[in-house]
Amino acid sequence: MIYFDNSATTMVKPKEVINAVLEGLTKYSANPGRSGHKLSMICANKVESVRENVKRFINADNAVFTENCTDALNLAILGTIKNGGHIICTSNDHNASARPIFEMSKKCDIEVSVATPTKPGILTATDIAKHYKDNTYLVCVNHMSNVDGEIADIESIGEFCKEKNILFLVDGAQSAGHLKLDMKGYGIDMLALAPHKGLYAPQGVGVLGFSDNVNLKPIRFGGTGTEGENLYQPTTSLERYESGTLPTPNILGLGAGLEFVKSHFDDINAKLDDLSTYLNFELSQINGVKVYTHPNNAYGVIGFNVKDFGSTEVSQILSDKYGICVRGGLHCAGLKHRFLNTLEQGVVRASLSYFNTFTECERFVKAIKQISKL
Ligand code: ALA
Repeated sequence: MIYFDNSATTMVKPKEVINAVLEGLTKYSANPGRSGHKLSMICANKVESVRENVKRFINADNAVFTENCTDALNLAILGTIKNGGHIICTSNDHNASARPIFEMSKKCDIEVSVATPTKPGILTATDIAKHYKDNTYLVCVNHMSNVDGEIADIESIGEFCKEKNILFLVDGAQSAGHLKLDMKGYGIDMLALAPHKGLYAPQGVGVLGFSDNVNLKPIRFGGTGTEGENLYQPTTSLERYESGTLPTPNILGLGAGLEFVKSHFDDINAKLDDLSTYLNFELSQINGVKVYTHPNNAYGVIGFNVKDFGSTEVSQILSDKYGICVRGGLHCAGLKHRFLNTLEQGVVRASLSYFNTFTECERFVKAIKQISKL
């Protein structure tokens, strides 16, 4: 089987990640931060040490663990909601951020504008600035589209947001592990991560990094292991965002994934660049194949279609006949497909990881050549 669905989740995990999760399950499954006994404290220290590593990796003031990236984006969007305000999001945004924003626009007095790229392959601060209004308080940008790998120039967008005193939220679900993420350096106020993708962590844990200047309100309430007598959510301490038991084994897996990515960062990127460039070039040579991914965006996500075949039909043939796993359809990214004009056909997406090989890419191209002749 060839697994080219790594943007949905990376399937092959480094052995270090598997060992860390196993160790979490067998040795560190006490509840971190709930009891004062020795094992609980050891678990809590392990969780805090991963938190510190995550903060260093993204250069954040704070990092909280969430259920997943969608949960982190909900916390960022709902936790900073401003009645009477205006939000700018982008055509690259996943439903994980688009839906909370549009739902809020229905429930509260919130206006929304969708910025689209004018330059091929990159969304810039100029594209955002066009939508700026006096009441704009939040800019939400997907760093890398999960449909075609299109990127946003988050450095220039961050500068624009600082200049206008607007909160800047970045969805790093697809970019973490592939592109540098430097919250303080790029002026990012909130950054959401999907560690089970490019950080090779297990599913079941997300991260929201945020700066000290963000007045972030908790959106879930419950036990925090602190101020037990208080019937209201604590108003200080990071735990107020982390009600409920944390998934220690997954967090330890995230810690190991992070170490793996840090120590292989250049190799990962060189490999994804080579394989994506090869795939992009070869697929665009096939008669009837339309590639949506800009050749500069060689980060392992290739979106394309074959003639006017439905994208889910192509992915089904790839699965049934060739044993190749890709994702067709809309990838939970309605705004992107409106922009690409592919709401009906969807897009076939091949998404790679460090563990894919050149031979797999050759077999994939051969399969698409055959399908294009059907
Ligand atoms: N967001 C994930 C994807 O792109 C699930 O497939």
